[in-house]
Amino acid sequence: MHNDVAKVLLTKEEISARIQSLGAEITRDYAGKNIVVVVLLKGAAWFATDLTRAIDLPLRVDFMVASSYGNGTSTSGKVQVKLECSENLEGKDVLLVDDIIDSGVTFAAISDLLKQSKPASLKTVALCDKAERRINGLDADYVGFKIPDEFVVGFGLDYAGDYRNLPYIGVLKPKIYTKA
Ligand code: IMP
Ligand code: MG
Repeated sequence: MHNDVAKVLLTKEEISARIQSLGAEITRDYAGKNIVVVVLLKGAAWFATDLTRAIDLPLRVDFMVASSYGNGTSTSGKVQVKLECSENLEGKDVLLVDDIIDSGVTFAAISDLLKQSKPASLKTVALCDKAERRINGLDADYVGFKIPDEFVVGFGLDYAGDYRNLPYIGVLKPKIYTKA
């Protein structure tokens, strides 16, 4: 375990098994549809590469860069889009993927933006969900794991850009972000 991690919350085996079952669920729900998976970089890249390979349907993938965090551990409340989708989403069934839903601000803002492209449907999927932290009542349509209100890293999740490559999801020692 990494020295800056207080405890492992989800092992790589648990994450992998859950992604397989999410993929199977999405495969059933979207049978016969035209999915475009929109991945929020950078954090959701790790989750999305596994999730898309667990979906047994023809699909397309696109990426967006959005951020609301700066280098802190809670949202700035403003979502900044740095790279927009290049796929045509009109009439498509769009699945928006993020690593974690926390305040809900990111999913709310990006969903509003994507709806301007007139998709046939728009659903959201997050690997982790810190439901206690929600400020807008929004829920993701698919959630991998409900987790407690602790700052986590690994499997794509970062603190100030670090720790994304940890193969598990762990709670970051608070001394790491309180000293900053
Ligand atoms: P929201 O807009 O507050 O729902 O936050 C979503 C974004 O916040 C995610 O894309 C993550 O980048 C970031 N985030 C929220 N909680 C955590 C955490 O515990 N660890 C790392 N990133 C987090
Ligand atoms: Mg993120």
